[in-house]
Amino acid sequence: MTRILNIDEKSLNEAKSIILNGGAVAFPTETVYGLGANALDTSAVNRIFEIKGRPNDNPLIVHVHKDFDIGELVKEIPDYAKKLAQKFLPGPLTMVYKSKGKVSSAVSCGLDTLAIRIPSHEGAQEFLKYVNLPIAAPSANISKHVSPTSAQHVFADLDGKIEIILDGGECKGGIESTVLDCTGEIPVILRSGLITREMIEKTVGVCGEYAYKEGGVARSPGMKYKHYSPKCHTALFDFSEYSKALELYDAELKNGEKVCILCDNSTAKLVGERRYLSLGGTPEEMAANLYSKLREGETFAQLLIAIAPNMQGGVMDGVMNRLTKACRN
Ligand code: TXA
Ligand code: MG
Repeated sequence: MTRILNIDEKSLNEAKSIILNGGAVAFPTETVYGLGANALDTSAVNRIFEIKGRPNDNPLIVHVHKDFDIGELVKEIPDYAKKLAQKFLPGPLTMVYKSKGKVSSAVSCGLDTLAIRIPSHEGAQEFLKYVNLPIAAPSANISKHVSPTSAQHVFADLDGKIEIILDGGECKGGIESTVLDCTGEIPVILRSGLITREMIEKTVGVCGEYAYKEGGVARSPGMKYKHYSPKCHTALFDFSEYSKALELYDAELKNGEKVCILCDNSTAKLVGERRYLSLGGTPEEMAANLYSKLREGETFAQLLIAIAPNMQGGVMDGVMNRLTKACRN
């Protein structure tokens, strides 16, 4: 039986001893909950892959506290990366560098790079400071399921598989960190998130974006997998096709299916008497609510019909990236 614990001296002590013994602990961050283990310990890192059922070519992010010297772990830190770190860290930005090879090679699945993240969540900082080790941590869900934004979400996926979950409340960010490749001349976004392309461009003048093509070689291996998916059927419609979405709803309801629409506040006004879950009004609200609404939907609906909000750019890119993957059946 897994225990959910408030973060205090006692639970931090227990978390530390689990980590030092090669185990895994779930902890909060400002994006989603992570499942952490000692990045220096290969068998501990392998345990994470086992617990999640994660494909073993999808590398993990190493989490450190804000005073940790990342120069110990990575080789060159380009000037633009220093500027970005100064501006956005601690925060929801993961930066990929050339690795010094100090952490277990299981973390990066044999790549010569290492993804590093300094979360801003107070509970995450306390935990990382307490253990004072680099902590490899993917999101604390079963692989391919929706990422967890509360301790209860983690419990639903991992009860019985881990000893403790450090409870830091609901994650305010709601979608995973932006992953930024800092190994080249310019920064390149590998996964969009709350630190947007526009914010990076404003800080260092330029920012590339890597678009993974189906069947191609993935620069960030996580991109090629099905992800964030609820346990029910899903369909995704562009806003311009919202009336088709409503037709599908009506047809499936007639067939006796339990259906629900997933949309934003303004689209919710167009759905009439139909059952819906709203993600909110702004892109930031939608990011914060997306995973909890997907998890809520899967508890009662057999089919979730998502209608993409009529907005683009900024945080919306990250929201649409996750929503599209969640609805890829
Ligand atoms: O917000 C977050 O980033 C959360 C919290 C827990 O910190 N973590 C998270 O981890 O989302 P995960 O494992 O679900 O996603 C890690 C992503 C994957 O897309 C993976 O391919 C990419 O980071 N990644 C990790 N190491 C990499 C590397 N060396 N090069 C390129 N991509 C890497
Ligand atoms: Mg994940």
